[in-house]
This record gives sequence, C-alpha cells and structure tokens, in this order.
Amino acid sequence: MQDAVVHEITRLAADRYNFVMSYQYHLFFCLNERSNGDDCCARHNAQSLFDYAKKRVKELGLNGNGKVRVNKSGCLDHCANGPVMVVYPQGVWYSMIDESDIEEIIQSHLVSGKPVERLVI
Ligand code: FES
Repeated sequence: MQDAVVHEITRLAADRYNFVMSYQYHLFFCLNERSNGDDCCARHNAQSLFDYAKKRVKELGLNGNGKVRVNKSGCLDHCANGPVMVVYPQGVWYSMIDESDIEEIIQSHLVSGKPVERLVI
C-alpha cells in the first residue's frame, strides 16, 4: 500500500512539473520475424497481440507518465515460448496465445497488480 501511495505522489508531481518518469509497468512485446524460416514470435500473431495491448491500455486510460507503456522489441531470446512479452521493472515474462490472454494480463497484472501465473514463463 505504501508503494502505491509513493507511486501516486510521484506520478502527480511528474504531471504537475511536466517531467518524464519511469513507468509502473513497461511492457516489451517481441515482434521479431526470421526471414530464414526459423520459428519466431511474428509467426505466432505477435503483431496483433501487441496492437491489441496498445489499444486496450489506451482505452482504459492506463497509459502515460508513471503508468503503463507498451513497446515492441526484437528477439527476447525466449523464441521457443513465443509469442512472448516481458513486464518491467518486475521482470515478469509471459507467453500468450490470443487477445483474451492479453486482456487477462491487463486486468489482473496491470490493473490489480496480480501477475497471471498460468501465462508466466
Ligand atoms: S523471436 Fe521472439 S523471443 Fe525470439
């Protein structure tokens, strides 16, 4: 609870004084595509899942200073589990299949602070 209060005060200060601060949750989605035919996240719907996450985070008003940022990345070296995404600064790694998995991560992890254990790798 104390972390939440400190985080909110910092976020309000960042908004008031217009400075950039780190994010509570910074998501990196691997969108890597291998041209040699090897398996990769791009072959498992990674772009669509990334697009959905960006859209939903914005719709829910979770994006912005001190809150959530969703970024794409290159290979995260977890190709066998793809598509994959990692949430920093906690360092929670996910493998997800479809939009319902992304929605569950957003609602449980980003909104309620509880990682979705069944999707953690
Ligand atoms: S291609 Fe996505 S983790 Fe390697």
